[in-house]
Amino acid sequence: MNFPKSVTIVEVGPRDGFQSEPLFVATDKKVELIERLSEAGVKRIEITSFVSPEAVPQLSDSELVAARLPKKPGTSYSALTPNLRGLERAIRAGMADIALFVSASETHNQKNVRMSIEESLRAFRQMARKALNGGLRMRGYVATAFGCEYEGRVLPKQVERIVTEYIAMGISEVSLGDTTGMANPLAVREMIRSLKPVLGQTALALHFHDTRGTGIANVLAAIEEGAQIFDCSIGGLGGCPASRTSSGNIATEDLVGMLHEMGIDTGIDLDALIECARYAARITGRQLPGRLPNAGRINWNGTAPDL
Ligand code: COA
Ligand code: ZN
Repeated sequence: MNFPKSVTIVEVGPRDGFQSEPLFVATDKKVELIERLSEAGVKRIEITSFVSPEAVPQLSDSELVAARLPKKPGTSYSALTPNLRGLERAIRAGMADIALFVSASETHNQKNVRMSIEESLRAFRQMARKALNGGLRMRGYVATAFGCEYEGRVLPKQVERIVTEYIAMGISEVSLGDTTGMANPLAVREMIRSLKPVLGQTALALHFHDTRGTGIANVLAAIEEGAQIFDCSIGGLGGCPASRTSSGNIATEDLVGMLHEMGIDTGIDLDALIECARYAARITGRQLPGRLPNAGRINWNGTAPDL
């Protein structure tokens, strides 16, 4: 098997994780986590969402977070924008990278952003022109790409349709979201294979939630299909206690730990990353699902890990 020499990690904990924490995490602590992740060598961090503060009160401090980014050279900081209002806020806040998001399932999109898929796409066309004119880079998320808790199966052609629209808008990267952990390695392979002809030069990222324990297996299947960009959350942050099927992304430290053991580089300092995960647990006040902060990284010298 020819594995890549390196892959790109996109840390989404400050956005995907904090948006579903039961308690509001103080702005200072959010900023400090972003600083620590940047120092650990994470090159891409999704820091917040410019969404309605009524819809996601946990991220109502997006302007404040954006104003205090460490701006480490070579590191990109991105934010989610659901509509034109969100994009304008992101531009005013000085963001250079934004992410559009729409669900492949009609019901999920309605519940998430109170728009039909078509209405979201219509808004994105206008947003994309504005973003590209302003020199911003755009990522396009397809949420519920591998299944929807309301509609069940999602067909690759539903995903393809959105990806095709995104590419026409000028996005530079698509991220396929397994929002509620319904993917499996075979489904991931099939999805990537069916999308390859549509994607052309557009980069592909995979975004797995580990709701049912298939997250890291899904990453491996994706790597075997040539994917090289993976979203994950420090500590495995995320998961709304109100939803039975919602849970965090795969934990960044666990994924990076496994990749490094396989000789696949991420440019990230694993020890510093594990410290970031411990910090994330402290500021959320709860035990997080990531494994390495408890188990310690593998120590091939045979001495017991220092915990
Ligand atoms: N930022 C701040 N406020 C916004 C906003 C934005 N991007 N978009 C809309 N609003 C405000 C409007 O100004 C309006 O305020 P008002 O009542 O004081 O006039 C209010 O929100 C309702 O606006 P409306 O256009 O009717 O939006 P909505 O209530 O239908 O909500 C979204 C649509 C998209 C704004 C909202 O559902 C949302 O932010 N969802 C995000 C969901 C999310 O982040 N999910 C997780 C990511 S996958
Ligand atoms: Zn997610």
